[in-house]
Amino acid sequence: MEKQKPRVYVTRIIAEKALDLLNAECNVKVWQGSMPPPRDVLLEQVQEIDGLVSLLTDKVDEELLKRAPNLKVVSNVAVGYDNIDVNAATRHGIPIGNTPGILTETTADLAFALLMAAARRLGESERYIRDGKWQTWDPTALLGVDIYGATLGIIGMGRIGQAVARRARGFDMRVIYSGGGHGYPTQLMGAARRELDELLRESDFVSIHCPLTPDTYHLISERELGLMKPTAILVNTARGGIVDPKALYAALKNKQIGYAALDVTEPEPIHLDDPLLTLDNCLIVPHIGSASVRTREKMALMAVENLLAGLKGERLPHCVNPSVYNR
Ligand code: DGY
Repeated sequence: MEKQKPRVYVTRIIAEKALDLLNAECNVKVWQGSMPPPRDVLLEQVQEIDGLVSLLTDKVDEELLKRAPNLKVVSNVAVGYDNIDVNAATRHGIPIGNTPGILTETTADLAFALLMAAARRLGESERYIRDGKWQTWDPTALLGVDIYGATLGIIGMGRIGQAVARRARGFDMRVIYSGGGHGYPTQLMGAARRELDELLRESDFVSIHCPLTPDTYHLISERELGLMKPTAILVNTARGGIVDPKALYAALKNKQIGYAALDVTEPEPIHLDDPLLTLDNCLIVPHIGSASVRTREKMALMAVENLLAGLKGERLPHCVNPSVYNR
């Protein structure tokens, strides 16, 4: 008798190559909507499955895990996994996979693109033309700040933070960093370590690259924004929840800081009536850090690799809760 294929639910259409690999080995159901599956649909679908391919828009928590008695593995198509209650998964004996490394350079590219776009006011400049304001070469219009020679403060010098630091070196920036705990070296890739407050005071640009955890939730709030230079530019390509959006609005509106460029917001998507969208000195794009064709395909393939390993009872190549194997 033919062995039954494992049942897998994929919460969105992902790269075709990855779905082909899954289909070859599993009985796969893919949610076809362009929006995430509603919670009740997800909770119903997980009842029968052996493996779940999730996105950062899907909440994987105790409630979901309890409803999925056969679940052997959850594979998130993202490096971040703040959508998943990892402790609960570990308690349930379920390994969680993520996609580290492969989106590092693509995300660093976007962080640098945002940094440059904010420095040189590209969003405003584009609107200036479309609004019919370009009448002549104006010696005083749309003046930005220089990138070369400026100090970049990187919060969280992990893979993506380091990739941003490499780009900054090519632009003759001075780089400092914070985070990583006291075990971190005083110099990393030519960047001097600073306490967060010092970094905020010293930097012309601040770029956030730490994960969202209970410790980093609203890490950048009123007090921290108050430490920054009035010309400083804040770039966030990590997670929206790391910056308090009300405090950020006030700081931008009152010109306590110069500019913000955000790939991530709290909440996501940002509401259209969010006051941040009324500000000229705030540039916002819709969480596209890893959005290149090649990188999104690599992420999907890595997620499938994790999932298939988990279904076979093998160790996931990229597991965020390896302690699950010590149980
Ligand atoms: C991630 O992987 O965590 C990004 O936010 C989306 O690619």
